[in-house]
Amino acid sequence: MSKLIAGNWKMSCFGADAIDLAEGIRDAVAANDEILDGADLLVCPPYLYIGIVQTVLGPESGVFVGGQDCALSENGAHTGDISAEMLVDAGCNYVILGHSERRQNHKESDALIAKKTARAYAEGLNVILCVGETEAQRDAGKAEEVVGAQIDAADFDGADYDKITIAYEPVWAIGTGKTASPDDVKAMHGFIRGKLQEKLAYGAEIRILYGGSVKPDNAESLLSLPNVGGALIGGASLNAESFMAIAKAAHKIEEQEYAAE
Ligand code: 13P
Repeated sequence: MSKLIAGNWKMSCFGADAIDLAEGIRDAVAANDEILDGADLLVCPPYLYIGIVQTVLGPESGVFVGGQDCALSENGAHTGDISAEMLVDAGCNYVILGHSERRQNHKESDALIAKKTARAYAEGLNVILCVGETEAQRDAGKAEEVVGAQIDAADFDGADYDKITIAYEPVWAIGTGKTASPDDVKAMHGFIRGKLQEKLAYGAEIRILYGGSVKPDNAESLLSLPNVGGALIGGASLNAESFMAIAKAAHKIEEQEYAAE
C-alpha cells in the first residue's frame, strides 16, 4: 500500500491560512501528480475550516480531507460536538482519534477512544489511531508496555486493513524538534506490527505511521525504515512546501521499492 502522508493542522491556523495552505498543496500536487502514485495525501484542518478546505481540495485534487477527532455519539443533543456522520457529510474520509493532546488535555481514555472508533467505522471513516508513550514512561523502560496496552484496548471490530491506521507518536517527540532514533522507531514499529499480526488476519497490511517532529530533512530516513507506512505531521504540515517535500520523499522511496521488486 502507498505511504500515507497526513497533515494534522491542529488548532494552528485561521480560515485564510487554511485556504492558502490548501491551495498551495492543490497546486503542487497538480504540478507533480506522479507523487500520488507512491503517497496518499491527507490534511486534517480544524473542524471549522473543513468546509472551506473541501472547496479547494475537492475529490479531483487527489488529496483526502479528515477530522482531528469526532464525537462519541450520533447526531443529536450534544452541544459543541461534531459527529462522525457530519465529517462524512463534509466530505471527510479519515478521522484522527486518540491523539496524545486529546488524551492529555481532555482526559480521553482508551475506552472512550474505542467507542469513538466504533462510531467512525460505522460511518465508513478511516481511523488513524494514535498511540505513544511519554518521556517518563520511556525512561522507565515502559514504552512497549504502554503502546501495547493502547493497542490492546483499541476497537478493531468493524475495521479492515484499509479502515484502520496506527500512528506511533512518542509524546516527547511532538512539537519538540526531537525525533525518536531510527533504532527506536524500528523497534517500536516492529513491536506494533507483531501485536497487530497476533490480533488480526490482516495485521501485516495495516499502515503504521510515525509522528513527532517529522520534517523534510528527516522524512526520507524515517519513511524508509521497515514497517513505517507513512507520517503524521504537525508543524511541517502547515507549510505547503515542507508538506510536499515530505510527500516527495515518500514517493521516492516507493519508486525505489518498486524498482527493486
Ligand atoms: P509535530 O510534527 O509538530 O511534532 O506534531 C506531530 C503530531 O502531533 C501530529 O499529530
